[in-house]
Amino acid sequence: MIYGYECMKEKIEELKSAIAAAKAATIEEVEALRIAYIGRKGRVTELIEQFSALSGEQKKEFGRDINGLKNAAVERIAQLKELVENAVNSSSASVESDIDITLPASVQSVGSRHPISAVKQQILDIFHRIGFVTADGPEVEDDWHVFGALNFPENHPARDMQDTFFVDKDILLRTHTSSIQVRVMERQKPPIRVVCPGRVFRNEAISYRAHCIFHQVEGLYIDKNVSFADLKQTIEYFAKECFGEQSTIRLRPSYFPFTEPSAEVDVSCNLCGGKGCAVCKGTGWLEIMGAGMVDPAVLESCGIDSSVYTGFAFGMGVERITMLKYGVKDLRLYFENDERFLEQFKAVY
Ligand code: DAH
Repeated sequence: MIYGYECMKEKIEELKSAIAAAKAATIEEVEALRIAYIGRKGRVTELIEQFSALSGEQKKEFGRDINGLKNAAVERIAQLKELVENAVNSSSASVESDIDITLPASVQSVGSRHPISAVKQQILDIFHRIGFVTADGPEVEDDWHVFGALNFPENHPARDMQDTFFVDKDILLRTHTSSIQVRVMERQKPPIRVVCPGRVFRNEAISYRAHCIFHQVEGLYIDKNVSFADLKQTIEYFAKECFGEQSTIRLRPSYFPFTEPSAEVDVSCNLCGGKGCAVCKGTGWLEIMGAGMVDPAVLESCGIDSSVYTGFAFGMGVERITMLKYGVKDLRLYFENDERFLEQFKAVY
């Protein structure tokens, strides 16, 4: 369309005020305005094209206005662009200004395994490596599995070795994980090679060296021709894996109703290397477990032919092993869940 003289004047005015009033909230809107006014087919561009078709006289008259319109459009669009960009930047700047990225980060406390869980797992892993598998059993037990089947005769003073929490006349909280070996023998034919971890309960006054709840790992190996030498070698392997290659063991004669012969096992003190120190009370040795050859009466109680099979068993306290490995001096620390204590074991798996 060719604008006439009046029409051209009007058009310039109209576009001028439209451009001055133009608004945009986003970069996309600014771009749409730019295309609408000064793009290749924009309204201002179109007007400029009309202008070039005018006569020399008219060109003189409108030249300045047309130029002014074009400059005003370019300027307004640049101005709108700047406004939009500043608004975007200042909104993200206000978020950033709340965060001082130069401040040291606050330490997030990350939980870790309890030392008892970690050491229990270490003990189990050591035995898993030589073919033992883990077995489980109930914490609330009957008299038979805790005492009867393990050759503690009724009213026998051996029962006093472990102060028992009774739930009922015949029902009690297990005082040792040896009850699990009874359950395993009752349901499984030899060969048997199990380790049995678990919580045990004894009616003891709580002090730095005794607690009414603690953890044990029991071991049981039954097959044809299992000998005391197998027991000794297995425990020596355990001691070296648990306390270090330089460790040695010694066995002292002892008594348990369910093993014959029975022994207390000591490991050479890893703190003084056997020379004698405060921890080993000058002896160079630390007691780590009880052990022995399973008494034939126990095998028979659990339905295993003692004329064909023999076996060994051992039992250790996880709190005690942890104490000896990491120098924990007070048993109560294991139960208090004080972060200052627990966080020292973050690297222990
Ligand atoms: N049950 C014993 C206790 O709690 C530990 C023990 C000793 C377990 C000798 C055994 C063993 O299997 O052979 O004191």
